[in-house]
Amino acid sequence: MDSSNFNLVCTLVVLVCMMAPSWGEQSLRPKALVVPVKKDAATLQYIAKINQRTPLVPVNLVLDLGGQFLWLDCDRRHYASTTYRPARCHSAQCSLAGSSACGSCFSAPRPGCNNNTCSLTPDNTVTHTATSGELGQDVVTVQSSNGFNPGRNVTVSRFLFTCAPRFLLQGLANGASGMAGLGRTKISLPSQFSSAFSFPRKFAVCLSSYSNGVAFFGDGPYVFLPDVDASKLFTFTPLFINPVSTASAYSRGDASTEYFIGVKSIRINGNVVPINTTLLSIDGNGAGGTKISTVEPYTVLEGSIFKAVTEAFMKEMNLTRVASVAPFEVCFSSKNVGSTRMGVAVPIIELVLQNKSTAWMIFGANSMVMVSDEVMCLGFVNGGENPRTSIVIGGYQMEDNLLQFDLAASRLGFSSLLFGMRTTCANFNFTSSA
Ligand SMILES: *[C@@H]1O[C@H](CO)[C@@H](O)[C@H](O)[C@H]1NC(C)=O
Ligand SMILES: *[C@@H]1O[C@H](CO)[C@@H](O)[C@H](O)[C@H]1NC(C)=O
Ligand SMILES: *[C@@H]1O[C@H](CO)[C@@H](O)[C@H](O)[C@H]1NC(C)=O
Ligand SMILES: *[C@@H]1O[C@H](CO)[C@@H](O)[C@H](O)[C@H]1NC(C)=O
Ligand SMILES: *[C@@H]1O[C@H](CO)[C@@H](O)[C@H](O)[C@H]1NC(C)=O
Ligand SMILES: *[C@@H]1O[C@H](CO)[C@@H](O)[C@H](O)[C@H]1NC(C)=O
Repeated sequence: MDSSNFNLVCTLVVLVCMMAPSWGEQSLRPKALVVPVKKDAATLQYIAKINQRTPLVPVNLVLDLGGQFLWLDCDRRHYASTTYRPARCHSAQCSLAGSSACGSCFSAPRPGCNNNTCSLTPDNTVTHTATSGELGQDVVTVQSSNGFNPGRNVTVSRFLFTCAPRFLLQGLANGASGMAGLGRTKISLPSQFSSAFSFPRKFAVCLSSYSNGVAFFGDGPYVFLPDVDASKLFTFTPLFINPVSTASAYSRGDASTEYFIGVKSIRINGNVVPINTTLLSIDGNGAGGTKISTVEPYTVLEGSIFKAVTEAFMKEMNLTRVASVAPFEVCFSSKNVGSTRMGVAVPIIELVLQNKSTAWMIFGANSMVMVSDEVMCLGFVNGGENPRTSIVIGGYQMEDNLLQFDLAASRLGFSSLLFGMRTTCANFNFTSSA
């Protein structure tokens, strides 16, 4: 749908473009896009930076892997742009976004307040607050990439997003002006970028704890210094759709836009942890199962799974247990703990997937959180009784693992901890080669 005018012209006049030396194949169509993603120390949210509007301004957005779309604070004092266009009722944009609502606004016209526009329900998935907001379009600029470096900046001239009132920002990191939804919708960031630039419906995220991690839109290579193409490391597992929405507000019949995987069992040091496996599948009400979330800072386990996992983990640990440090329950003295390339030497936790030889391995770097110089805690949180989803894999467990979401093939590729290849998610070379 939305492609830059430049792209459109080039697609229509392929011959002319090919003849013009500065308009080579490469500039015609970026292979992929790259966006820096930085962890906010106060909220533990992951912040993606894009450029938007006319004139262009940098916009910080909380990355929401399963989120429905881009939503932004359009308050008059914070949103100025000469290229903002509201989506008119019953337009192609409204139908692409799945909105049949048609609204009016009874104050002075501005982005977020126009008559005869359709609306969506922006969802702050951190605080679980949702409200209504106008669907609009504006310029979005991000850097293209060959997988090694950022290249020239590319523009989507009519990128669809939802305007939210300012109060919806409550609970988001300082300086964030909205959320970037990468979920399963036709107007999520991956969908709009893929259709604007005709690249495969794939994207990848590599979160870092301390520095710039990276999100890629489009296919690999995804190269980290010193020359490790992490897309070569993938193990694949199917992605599942939860037929019942997990959003804060939704209509009957809406499916969840989040990404679920099929964890079948959990092993610790190779031993299967006894858990109620019924909790691992998604039931008729959309409860249960395992999803991946960038808004949960740590993996959340349903109460009985949490108990079984922590008991099994403690049985395998020979270190002295110390008082718990919230939000964690199981903490140890970190004196005398060994260290390995994969983090501190602790029992390996495995999320076993479609068969016994396919598992997401969680090593010390992703399982233990150093809460002080002397204390480290198992970085899992007790989700209590009857949470909606039994296992929510959170940001800390994803850090320094490259995850690729292949929407066409409906599968997840995961690299495992990149420390094994002597690199990290902070090692993408952000020096532009353009
Ligand atoms: C929308 O239309 C109403 C009624 O015609 C008018 O009072 C109002 O000012 C308009 N709002 C905007 C934002 O144009
Ligand atoms: C692309 O945009 C970024 C962010 O605004 C800017 O820092 C960079 O210089 C631009 N790169 C090119 C090649 O124009
Ligand atoms: C396992 O979990 C399911 C779903 O919550 C529950 O209905 C069932 O009673 C549980 N089974 C056992 C043995 O606890
Ligand atoms: C714990 O101690 C037992 C016996 O003392 C030993 O076999 C095992 O390797 C130790 N495990 C760890 C994780 O150090
Ligand atoms: C397990 O699954 C992987 C990935 O789908 C597949 O390549 C492999 O052959 C399977 N192994 C067994 C033992 O079925
Ligand atoms: C990063 O990329 C730039 C531009 O291609 C290159 O000049 C530089 O040597 C690279 N850095 C490293 C550490 O390889």
